[in-house]
Amino acid sequence: MSAVIPVSADWLTLREAADAGSRSHALVAQAGRMLRPPVTIHDLGSGTGSMPRWLAPLLPGPQTWVLHDWNDALLQHAASADLHDRDGASITVRTRPGELGALRGRDLDGASLVTASALLDVLSADEISAIVAACIDAGAPALFALSVTGQVLLDPVDPGDRLFAASFNDHQRRTVEGRRLLGPDAPAVAADLFRSAGWSVSVADSHWRLAGGDRALVSEWMHGWLAAAVAQRPALREWAAEYARQRAAQIAAGELRVIVEHIDFLAWPP
Ligand SMILES: C[S@@+](CC[C@H](N)C(=O)[O-])C[C@H]1O[C@@H](n2cnc3c(N)ncnc32)[C@H](O)[C@@H]1O
Repeated sequence: MSAVIPVSADWLTLREAADAGSRSHALVAQAGRMLRPPVTIHDLGSGTGSMPRWLAPLLPGPQTWVLHDWNDALLQHAASADLHDRDGASITVRTRPGELGALRGRDLDGASLVTASALLDVLSADEISAIVAACIDAGAPALFALSVTGQVLLDPVDPGDRLFAASFNDHQRRTVEGRRLLGPDAPAVAADLFRSAGWSVSVADSHWRLAGGDRALVSEWMHGWLAAAVAQRPALREWAAEYARQRAAQIAAGELRVIVEHIDFLAWPP
């Protein structure tokens, strides 16, 4: 099994409200029309369970969620949540620890819908192929939310913006223990795999639009964005430190607006 790349529960909690405000309701409505209760939803890369907390109350019950992740500590956190469907009825939650690169159709048993959020860009091409093949084998629609596109817009603009963004995107495409991650290329690769199998795909924007009221999230996002850019290109260290100081002052004054582009897509079988 590949080494688990740690994701902090604190980071997932910090971004949860922005994620919830950004995912596409139009695609949920479209997916909802394909569901016949009882509903079984397999969520891939569940982390602390942000996707079921957001989606379960938008869908009819009875609902069973099966949460997949290779990080058992995050799964335990997710499973402890008290979740309800849109009629207020409790939902059943099961966890399935494991590596998504080894996912097979039989692991998605009974799926009415497969979901993921903020997952695809941290996977390799082989892992995405395995996931798409498993979804196609299971024959259930797939709603993959919040994949970064690599585009970031900051206001006020700064000459460093494009350079740090490019270096961050290269970092997202890095190789980790022999796995070359797809980063911002991932959603297009996944959607094309579904289309090649004859599935239909609907795409919607789900950009984060962050402003003065999102200081904590913007600060943490900025810190991680610059750290990754410098890890990729250490020659940027000094410039990044100066850039970070200027951006921190703008964040403190509520003057910085950031759009971090994401897309959601829904794929369904012929
Ligand atoms: C950025 S987090 C998103 C978590 C959650 N979906 C959310 O939106 O808050 C990505 C999650 O995918 C899991 N993950 C990443 N690569 C994985 C892999 N190859 N196999 C299983 N889980 C993986 C991580 O442990 C993490 O919980």
